[in-house]
Amino acid sequence: MRRTVFVLNGPNLNLLGKREPEIYGAETLADVEGACRQAAARHGLDLRFHQTNREYELIDWIHEARDKAAAIVINPAAFTHTSVAVLDALQAFAGPVIEVHISNIHRREPFRRHSYVSGRADGVIAGCGGQGYLLALDRVAHLLDAARPMAGGQG
Ligand code: DQA
Repeated sequence: MRRTVFVLNGPNLNLLGKREPEIYGAETLADVEGACRQAAARHGLDLRFHQTNREYELIDWIHEARDKAAAIVINPAAFTHTSVAVLDALQAFAGPVIEVHISNIHRREPFRRHSYVSGRADGVIAGCGGQGYLLALDRVAHLLDAARPMAGGQG
């Protein structure tokens, strides 16, 4: 059975490539999505890739992932630092969750150092640019492979 991964992006990430390029780089979100699709195909994963500027929409996708996704890769953007509601939604999801930040949030303003989402994430990647998403997909594939029952009933 093919495994589906939701890659979810929070507010202002639609402006990637135009917004503060000295922090977030020149890559657009469409570039990131294209690279994620290639990585997912390599790993035999189905991908759903979304971005929203609305907190409720991010929460609704996390709820949808409960039935439809084996794992979530999420860059909650500014909601990282503000949203107990996004944390609560992720707590209700059973599979692996990898939190991604394009920039190194620990090298920036102090308010970015706290992440509500890290309280649930199985892994956190920050400061690796758009490549962070690909690292997250590598990790998700590894975790899902490790959780898969072995063919032939051994192990
Ligand atoms: C971000 C870091 C957040 O602090 C910020 O609000 C974002 C993007 C990142 O990818 O580096 O919008 O999540």
